[in-house]
Amino acid sequence: MGSISNLLEVRGVTKVFRYGLLGFKFKAIEDISMVLEEKPLIFTVAGESGSGKSTLAKIILDIYRPDKGTVLYRGRDIYRLSSKERLWFRSEVQAVFQNPYSSFNPMRRLYSYLYETSRNFMKLKNIDADPEEEIDKTLRLVGLTLDEIRYKHPHELSGGQLQRVSIARALLSRPKLIVADEPVSMLDASLRVNILNIFREIKENLGISFIYITHDLSTAYYISDYIAIMYRGWIVEQGPIEKVFKDPKHPYTQLLLESIPEPDLSKKKEWLQPIKLGGIEEKEYIAEGCKYRFRCPFAFDKCRRTPPDIKLGDSGIVVKCWLYEK
Ligand SMILES: Nc1ncnc2c1ncn2[C@@H]1O[C@H](COP(=O)(O)OP(=O)(O)OP(=O)(O)O)[C@@H](O)[C@H]1O
Ligand code: SF4
Ligand SMILES: [Mg+2]
Repeated sequence: MGSISNLLEVRGVTKVFRYGLLGFKFKAIEDISMVLEEKPLIFTVAGESGSGKSTLAKIILDIYRPDKGTVLYRGRDIYRLSSKERLWFRSEVQAVFQNPYSSFNPMRRLYSYLYETSRNFMKLKNIDADPEEEIDKTLRLVGLTLDEIRYKHPHELSGGQLQRVSIARALLSRPKLIVADEPVSMLDASLRVNILNIFREIKENLGISFIYITHDLSTAYYISDYIAIMYRGWIVEQGPIEKVFKDPKHPYTQLLLESIPEPDLSKKKEWLQPIKLGGIEEKEYIAEGCKYRFRCPFAFDKCRRTPPDIKLGDSGIVVKCWLYEK
């Protein structure tokens, strides 16, 4: 059993996919562990394309089943829920995806979508409220009103507006956790901050936590409490964001942060330059040992073996690198 004082625990999760005509196996994510405590927070998962971020998100949302390991929500294994508990889990943990246009049926009015979602969840949670009022109240949390969208179809809204509607839809079930997979990467830079501010307000005012998935470290820094850095299916470093950014431990995190101009940690808002991460090489996925060793300036003999997750004292930092072995 996991601790029910934690909202979410990902425990040693591995997901294997096959690729190519010969069906080669590879681990899209490997032995990933992370914990979100009960306290509302924004936990960013950052990494370049193909590092396994969406695979991890789908495992947490129970869209994929892991080949190894498990996920506990409030101490309960999410893959062993009864059908009633599964409905409860789906109301507690909601998703927001990258492309809001693909989350809605283009033929249907947004209001009918929201109405149905609201009614279903209120029934499930025995909440006695007027769905219309509930929808209007929720839309106002994301800077919209019911009057503005009542007769609209998805294509009649801008990407930023529609993404706000999908956040409202996620909120209608009164969740405790929202998994947002690159929710702003399709939006103009000017709109991104607006959406991220909504996340922060929701966290602070409604006590909802977020797993915010991104390849953009600058937006991550802007809103996060915790960060996990992914590389080739591993979390190579995770911990409180200020600590990771001020004093990165893993050589890959160090490289990522070096490519950003000296961040002024007191001025989060002014520091929003996105950075570009490196390219992908197949051998890094399938080689034995540390996947970063082909690029690492500190690689030594031991790095031919897979490094363990090493906890650095009580700093909250966990780093996957032999350099930190006691
Ligand atoms: N259903 C699948 N079947 C086979 N391979 C998959 C599947 N889903 C993902 N992959 C592969 O697993 C790896 C990780 O993919 P994933 O989508 O999790 O990465 P990501 O970090 O979300 O990337 P991006 O930033 O491009 O969204 C990639 O090599 C991808 O091609
Ligand atoms: S384990 Fe070795 S190769 Fe991997 S990051 Fe650490 S020092 Fe570099
Ligand atoms: Mg992805």
